[in-house]
Amino acid sequence: MEVAVNPQSLAVLNALATPHLRAAALAAVLLAPALPAPAGGAEAFDTAAAGRGRQVVEDWCRGCHLRARDRPDADMALPYERIVLRPGRDRAYFERFFREDHFPMTTYRLFENEKADVVEYLLSLKPQ
Ligand code: HEC
Repeated sequence: MEVAVNPQSLAVLNALATPHLRAAALAAVLLAPALPAPAGGAEAFDTAAAGRGRQVVEDWCRGCHLRARDRPDADMALPYERIVLRPGRDRAYFERFFREDHFPMTTYRLFENEKADVVEYLLSLKPQ
């Protein structure tokens, strides 16, 4: 079937569609930074602090949290490499997380500087 397109109506369509599409594209660009970072999205981190945070985790958290290469174990908490891939696990999330008590993690207490270092460590695990 052949569809006859009147060049004039095409021009009208273009005139309508273009500003609309432009507005949509502009909105997408403007809104992008406000959206949550994609799962596993890389964030800047402090390398020295991440190294200290890694040691805090080795000292205090390995009783429950698996290492990346451990076999999955339903009785253990997820490796941090997996946790950081969950949606929304960004700096703000982890900083809030370490300000609150979380069952069953009520048995650990970290100093403020240790919490900050662990946040850097977690961010360092995100795929860069
Ligand atoms: C008594 C066991 C236990 C200890 C000790 C422990 N955790 Fe956990 N942790 C858990 C469990 C259980 C979860 C929940 C697992 C899940 O979210 O799938 C968890 C979850 C987490 C999460 C993920 C939170 C989220 O919402 O995704 C982080 C981050 C975390 N722990 C950090 C730590 C750090 C840092 C330490 C050491 C200072 C620690 N944990 C020590 C058991 C523990």
